[in-house]
Amino acid sequence: MAGKRTFTMIKPDAVGAGNTGAIIKMIEEAGFRIIAMKKTHLSKERAGQFYEVHKERPFYNDLTSYMSSGAIIPMILEKDNAVEDFRKLIGATNPKEAAEGTIRALFAESIEANAIHGSDSDENAQIEGSFFFSATEQF
Ligand code: CMP
Repeated sequence: MAGKRTFTMIKPDAVGAGNTGAIIKMIEEAGFRIIAMKKTHLSKERAGQFYEVHKERPFYNDLTSYMSSGAIIPMILEKDNAVEDFRKLIGATNPKEAAEGTIRALFAESIEANAIHGSDSDENAQIEGSFFFSATEQF
């Protein structure tokens, strides 16, 4: 059965450009309920932990520097088929390949500064949500 929850974070480029409100509006209008949300900041070390799976990739050092360069807004979201539907809403990792009307097509600057993250599986949604929020912070 498709899961009901996914994890997202609005990344430093989108927060810095003042696109937080527009992005949250699109998320709610697409039928996602916000279960947990905060504005916070990742140190380079914490960003490295979050993106541990990409440790061997050539872009890992740049990615963790970028992700610790400004405020981020992590959220846990709820909707039927949450992981798949959210990835459709945000579009492809590379904004040049993101479908028209998707969050990345509208707001991403580059493949690295791509406005928003979306979990790629139910298992990772659970792991990533727990990275930022305790059970008592989820409503
Ligand atoms: P996200 O889906 O949040 O998780 C991994 C991130 O790594 C991805 O978004 C991009 O921000 C970044 N990324 C993926 N591929 C590349 C790439 N080829 N060059 C630079 N950054 C990348």
